[in-house]
Amino acid sequence: MNYLLFIICAYLLGSIPSGLIVGKIGYKMDIREHGSGNLGGTNAFRVLGKKAGMIVTIADIGKGTLATLLPVIFQQPELNLLVIGIFAVIGHMYPIFANFRGGKAVATSGGLILGVSPLLFLIIFLSFFIVLYITKYVSLSSMVTGIVAFITSIIMNEIGLLILTGLLTIFIFYRHRANIKRILNKTEPKVKWL
Ligand code: G3P
Repeated sequence: MNYLLFIICAYLLGSIPSGLIVGKIGYKMDIREHGSGNLGGTNAFRVLGKKAGMIVTIADIGKGTLATLLPVIFQQPELNLLVIGIFAVIGHMYPIFANFRGGKAVATSGGLILGVSPLLFLIIFLSFFIVLYITKYVSLSSMVTGIVAFITSIIMNEIGLLILTGLLTIFIFYRHRANIKRILNKTEPKVKWL
């Protein structure tokens, strides 16, 4: 299989709209019509409840991790995991199976980092929950964690990780434009369970 086919596979994998599938099958609801309108785990928690939120979050993380395993599954280890992984995140944000209205890159980026560097994943996992505990904003925790991932990659001195986390952080900030506005005008909802 050549590079282009792998990239298409990763994009299609990322395009699987977990939030839409869980919402439509389990609750007859399109979560993009409710809450923040985002097709992600946070909005699934908000609109559908804890069980659905957990399923969607785990599935979205899984898409990123699975993308990094594609070269192993198809026995093409020379393929660049980072390139393949980025296309899974693009699929998650702009899914072909859901009218290109997808999520905000957070969970699938986390899954991608888990597949590439479990140590960095552990650091961002802790960073996410520490910021969430302090601020109660999932969106702010996601963006701060993007920056933490980038700074940690500089410290780890790994050029591939640095490019990856730099790109992912740009995606995350870009997809959180509405959240940034809401945080600034103090209308962003806080989580209630922390
Ligand atoms: O993972 C997305 C999260 O950072 C924000 O989601 O639904 O509050 O816009 P939401």
